[in-house]
Formats: sequence, C-alpha cells, structure tokens
Amino acid sequence: MRVIEAGSYSEMSERAAAIIAAQMILKPDSVLGLATGSSPVGTYESLVKKYDQGIIDFDQTKTFNLDEYVGLPPTNDQSYRYFMEENLFSHVNVKSENINFLDGMTANIQGECQRYEQRIEEIGGIDLQLLGMGHNGHIAFNEPAGQFVADTHLVELSQSTIDANKRFFESGNDVPRQALTMGVASIMKARTIVMVVSGEEKAEAVRKAIEGSIVPEVSASVLQMHPDVYFIADSAALSLLKG
Ligand code: GLP
Repeated sequence: MRVIEAGSYSEMSERAAAIIAAQMILKPDSVLGLATGSSPVGTYESLVKKYDQGIIDFDQTKTFNLDEYVGLPPTNDQSYRYFMEENLFSHVNVKSENINFLDGMTANIQGECQRYEQRIEEIGGIDLQLLGMGHNGHIAFNEPAGQFVADTHLVELSQSTIDANKRFFESGNDVPRQALTMGVASIMKARTIVMVVSGEEKAEAVRKAIEGSIVPEVSASVLQMHPDVYFIADSAALSLLKG
C-alpha cells in the first residue's frame, strides 16, 4: 500500500485525479469504479477540469458505482445516482450506456446483486476503483460485521453511518436504512485502488485500516492485502499512524 500524505483536501483531490487521469490516458476504454460521499467531490471537480482542458476524454470510459440506497429512485436528489450526475456525469462526455449503477428500486434484490457482479465480469473487471472511507472504517457500504461479505449484497446501515450521512437529508428519519453495495471481493478485484480520506475525525479509522488487523469490523483493513493501493490522505487523517 502506498500511503501518500497530502497537505490539504485539495492536494489530496489533485493527487487522486492525476492517477485517474493517467489511467484514462493509458487506457481510453478504462473501467472506473466510482464512489460517492464528500471525500471524492474534489477529485471529480479536478477530473471535470481536466476534461474541459482536453486532457482526458470519457468517450470510451465505463463506470460502475460502489453502492446505492434502497428505496431511492435516481431522480431523488439524495440517491447516489443523482450525486454522480451532479458531480461528474453531467459535466463530461461519458455515454449513458456505459454508466452502471445498482438499482435501489429493484423488486428482486438478489437478482440485481447478481446482475451487477456479472456485468462487472463481462466487461473485464474494474481497472481502477476510487474509494472513500466511512467514519467507522467501512468502504462502500461494507459496514462493521462479523465476517467479510465477498459479493454485491444488501446491507442494513449502522447507526453511525446513518448519523454521519444524515447531514445530506432533511432529518435522520429520511436516511434509508438499507443499501445495495459491492462486497469486499468485488472491490478487491479492481486492478488498482485509489482511496481518498481527509479530516481528523477519520484518523482513528485510518490507523485501524492501515496498521490494524485485517478484520471485517473495519472493512477498509482488507486493502492491506491488495497489491496496488494508493491511500491518499491529508495530514489530519494520518495523524494517528504509528509507523
Ligand atoms: C458512505 C458511502 C461510502 C463513503 C462514506 C464516507 O457510507 N457509501 O462510499 O466512503 O459514506 O463518506 P464521506 O466521504 O462523505 O465521509
């Protein structure tokens, strides 16, 4: 794992965007795994800038997002599909048929999870997966659990995640209680992983993810086993590392 210390959120975002841009230039039909939340917003801003400057092109890019709330349609401004439209898709020339998303409105949850796994496989796997990390050390919506869940699955959100994400909703009661999420194996199969984390409030989770045991209570810890991870974090987020 390469731990890259960034002086600020914007430096973190620039570093992440530069890696993603290089991936897209080296392989124009790259398959990108994308994340939501406040952590990658600056990365998307930087990618949009690079697109506007003609440095990168999304014409052949394919995307898969990590997760989606159950019960929110893409038109709901709190859905992750909506977030991606606002922060990236509507600003670049990615083709709608190349955007892959979990359907949080599906009546067949198991079928939808299988469809997503199959689609990733058919397309040849994810070249580069962008990740953020929750306050409890989760990636995507792989909440602290008794065991790792490998594939895409339905998850009950933990109270700490509901509390952390309620800032985006009118009230805590509006935060969905369930989500569909790629599992840890779905994420670990990506050839390269770029993690962006910032802020002192995540420092303890960062320490556990990088220096702690590999345990399902901190799903980000599994990244220690991946051969090609860029863990890009600001100084505050790295402040509790011992090594
Ligand atoms: C949610 C998302 C994660 C994200 C996390 C942290 O739980 N499912 O993918 O990493 O929030 O979000 P933020 O970056 O806003 O702290």
